[in-house]
Amino acid sequence: MSRQMHLIAILSTGPTTHHHAMWRHPLTENRFLDPEWWARLGKTFEDAKFDAVFCGDSQIFYNDVTVRKGGQISFLDPMPVAMLLAQATKHLGIGITVSSSFFEAYGIARSLGTLDLLSGGRIAWNVVTSTSQEEASRYGLDLLSRNARYDRADEMLEACFKLWDSIDPEAFVLNKKTGEFMDASKLKSFEYNGKYIRTKGPLTVPPSPQGRPVIMQAGSSERGRQCAARWAEIIFTLQNSLPDMQAFYSDIKGRLPQYGRRESDCAILTSVDPIIGETENIAREKQAYINSLVDEELAVGLASMHLGVDLTGFAMDQPLEDINMETGSRGAFDIMLSASKAQGLTLGQACRLYATSELCPQLVGTPEQVADQMQDLFEKRGCDGFILTPVCAPGSFEDFTRSVVPILQQRGLFRKEYPGTTLRASLAE
Ligand SMILES: Cc1cc2nc3c(=O)[nH]c(=O)nc-3n(C[C@H](O)[C@H](O)[C@H](O)COP(=O)(O)O)c2cc1C
Repeated sequence: MSRQMHLIAILSTGPTTHHHAMWRHPLTENRFLDPEWWARLGKTFEDAKFDAVFCGDSQIFYNDVTVRKGGQISFLDPMPVAMLLAQATKHLGIGITVSSSFFEAYGIARSLGTLDLLSGGRIAWNVVTSTSQEEASRYGLDLLSRNARYDRADEMLEACFKLWDSIDPEAFVLNKKTGEFMDASKLKSFEYNGKYIRTKGPLTVPPSPQGRPVIMQAGSSERGRQCAARWAEIIFTLQNSLPDMQAFYSDIKGRLPQYGRRESDCAILTSVDPIIGETENIAREKQAYINSLVDEELAVGLASMHLGVDLTGFAMDQPLEDINMETGSRGAFDIMLSASKAQGLTLGQACRLYATSELCPQLVGTPEQVADQMQDLFEKRGCDGFILTPVCAPGSFEDFTRSVVPILQQRGLFRKEYPGTTLRASLAE
């Protein structure tokens, strides 16, 4: 079988995922608080044989602008939402964003292990190191420096892996005659004493059919890439152009052997925003319409949120310069900087394009044209597949699954059936 593309949908429990006018689109239903919504979307993705769906997360109302104008707010805890998706589906993977900076290992391992077991081995943990002191203060914490946050993430993952490996599945005896319930010798006791994380095993949660949750990561700084190369089985990246995608792809794949990993152990998925029309002109009109709904003030608010720098005092008519961003997302900044240099953008223009997701990029055209663009990015090793972000929900996903997925399947680029029941089995294709 030829190399297969991986497809994951991104959602949020709020008004937008990436495109900041998503909630204003006439066809967007804004039903993110409705349990039925999650079940319906889960079925849409599973019918199309997507590898997974995941919710990005941020745990606070970032600022007054994001509240008033509907920015990237996540109203709900993603873990119970994941259970709704799991109940509505049988094969679809489900990604859950959990910060490695605010919680303790035992609690994360227990919750994610439980979800992984109950979903039949379909959970991915999107490990984020978090970028906001405001979020940290909700937990009574000071945000660590970027490198320290990644050191904590490394320890967190080391500890969680040990916890997830601390019960042999054969431990259950359940011999009613002898009265032996479990074989205690099959539980592994251990102590983990790191600089940031201290815990003890065994964990009470038995392994799921895929052993433990899949690890997903989206860091882009030097330290973030190291962490991703060591742990991530899925990387979610924002890149503006094929050369940028190829550079990121070969950089990460080149780092894997240092950690004893093969290229196929880590799927690099780049974000794209498909806008599909019956003709190219219709698709371009749809694109112009949704992009016209992006609010300038909100665009600057979103960029400030992702960069961890309040940009409101910056000159919007000046070119975007490299700025010292100790806390924010390097990946978000790199895509703005690279597009600004290539296209000569001012800071205001870069913020606007970032908020429209045009930088991510938008793939616009007929179903064939969108499939062609995806095939090109995939075959030229810009990525192993895509994170699909919507301009309207559920419309963008329904358009894509109805019209583009069958073309990718006919071309032998994407599965027609799931290879197994776990997320790790889908990723192994
Ligand atoms: C594409 C992408 C998606 C991300 N999604 C989230 C998210 O949903 N929640 C969150 O707290 N952080 C998110 N982040 C932040 C990263 O996980 C990471 O913590 C942050 O980018 C800092 O690391 P870096 O400087 O190495 O990029 C995302 C970053 C990128 C690039």
